[in-house]
Amino acid sequence: MAATRNSSLDDPFYQPADKFFPANSKIGLTFDDITLATLYSEILPRDTTLDTTLAEKLHLNIPVISSDMDTVTESRMAIAMALNGGLGLIHYNMTDREQLSEVSRVKNHVHGLIQEPIQVSPGQFIGDVLAMIDQKKFAFGTFPVVDEKGKLVGLLSGHVVKPRYAKMKVSEALTPRSQVHTIMRKELGKDPIARADKFFTEHLGIHKLLVVDDKDKLCGLITLSDVERITHERAAQFKPARDANFHLICGAAVSATRNAFGELDKKRILEHVGGLVERGVDVVAVSTAHGHTKGVGGMVRVLRDAFPKLPIIAGNVTSAAGVEFLADCGADAIKVGQGPGSICTTRMVAGVGIPQMTALYVCSSMSAKKKVSILADGGITKSGDIVKALTLSSAVVCGGIFAGCNEAPGDVVEISGKLYKQYRGMGSFAAMKAGSAARYGHEKNPAQKVAPEGVEALKEACGSVDRVLAQLIGGIQSGMGYLGAKNLEQLRAKARYIRVSPAGMREAAPHDVVELKTGNVES
Ligand code: XMP
Repeated sequence: MAATRNSSLDDPFYQPADKFFPANSKIGLTFDDITLATLYSEILPRDTTLDTTLAEKLHLNIPVISSDMDTVTESRMAIAMALNGGLGLIHYNMTDREQLSEVSRVKNHVHGLIQEPIQVSPGQFIGDVLAMIDQKKFAFGTFPVVDEKGKLVGLLSGHVVKPRYAKMKVSEALTPRSQVHTIMRKELGKDPIARADKFFTEHLGIHKLLVVDDKDKLCGLITLSDVERITHERAAQFKPARDANFHLICGAAVSATRNAFGELDKKRILEHVGGLVERGVDVVAVSTAHGHTKGVGGMVRVLRDAFPKLPIIAGNVTSAAGVEFLADCGADAIKVGQGPGSICTTRMVAGVGIPQMTALYVCSSMSAKKKVSILADGGITKSGDIVKALTLSSAVVCGGIFAGCNEAPGDVVEISGKLYKQYRGMGSFAAMKAGSAARYGHEKNPAQKVAPEGVEALKEACGSVDRVLAQLIGGIQSGMGYLGAKNLEQLRAKARYIRVSPAGMREAAPHDVVELKTGNVES
């Protein structure tokens, strides 16, 4: 019979984490320093499952989280992440009020319902509408028409938005309210897509359904093409990450702000987190560069006492002592990573930080004892890094990989014919200044730290989060197939490591060819 078991001849070379990392304890290792050995497998990549539990009440369908950075995660990104089964952490470089409404946007998101459709007013000219379409590069030409109070007046059909009618007023060209198909928001029920699907089937040739409230104010738009796309996607392997009430899940980062006396500003913190909880936030993240500190511990304790059931992420740390400390303070999931991020300069500026795989191993040995989960935060540039990180953690936190996506905050800029989006470290001078200004309510407050620990950079625009995640997930599933792991627990149990030499590292990337198309997610 063919050998399907491990051979002891492999053992001196390919070692499990508990042998491999202690044997390499004198050197800090990161993703590219190691590779995983394959194992006999009966698992096809497509049959693997990726769900992960970060806290008692926090389950994801894919182990990927978008970073709480002001050039990565606001509501649009968080919605896209949750729709794909992951989680977005809304950053805190905004006022408390803004953060509350960002969380509300995610929690109230109805997939397929465009909540704030582009509208026109009856007094505008068709020429104005054409100019707007041209300027904003809209790919559609039909717009709801509303009056100054937000009440629906009619629909401006794409058939009349033509240069020949430029001098006509919208009020003269619109389809009047009485002939426009609408539905009351409350009639959408628990499954708005199924309801809209039924409507479009019953109304031949109608492609747009306007949603109104009981005062006939416009509160959304559903299009036939969105409904068809979503119905098709429902067959997808990874379901959206939702709470018990079927709302998308959402996280928010909170900062350990201090009052004028330098003490934790408990009143402000509790008020704000109370507001987040009221709006349905599923997890808060106490995000700092150094989590093993009195201040961060105090903040986690304050939150744990006030909100006993709220999942709390805290960090960042790179030591077992740091994990133990934050776990004892009440954190459920602990972010590991000091200086691995693509925009980080902490290691250069402060001379501290640990290469990520070693840090993850050290931290994971304590997390098992403390029954908390570990999140691998920073330094991920490819799906293979995620597979390696997941052998020692429950999920990864990524910034750079998502910063070039359409859903990341900020505009696309064109430089020499290429499209980019801004990406900056939260410890960069500009981000610190933005954070201080927003949080303390004035504009020119100097940055709190003298030496920035992050850079301001650009990422090549890389399309939608759906597309980027599809590639990442495909890579993770391949890795699991190679290890014969059908779920993440098995991946952790089966992982065996070996160090890679510099020549081995060169061998791992395409070499000795002229590359025509990169396999990179950003290409
Ligand atoms: P990636 O590699 O995904 O890293 O771009 C994102 C993570 O980097 C951390 N972060 C910083 N670290 N200085 C730092 O040393 C900074 O300015 C900075 N900003 C973000 C953070 O953990 C994030 O998730």
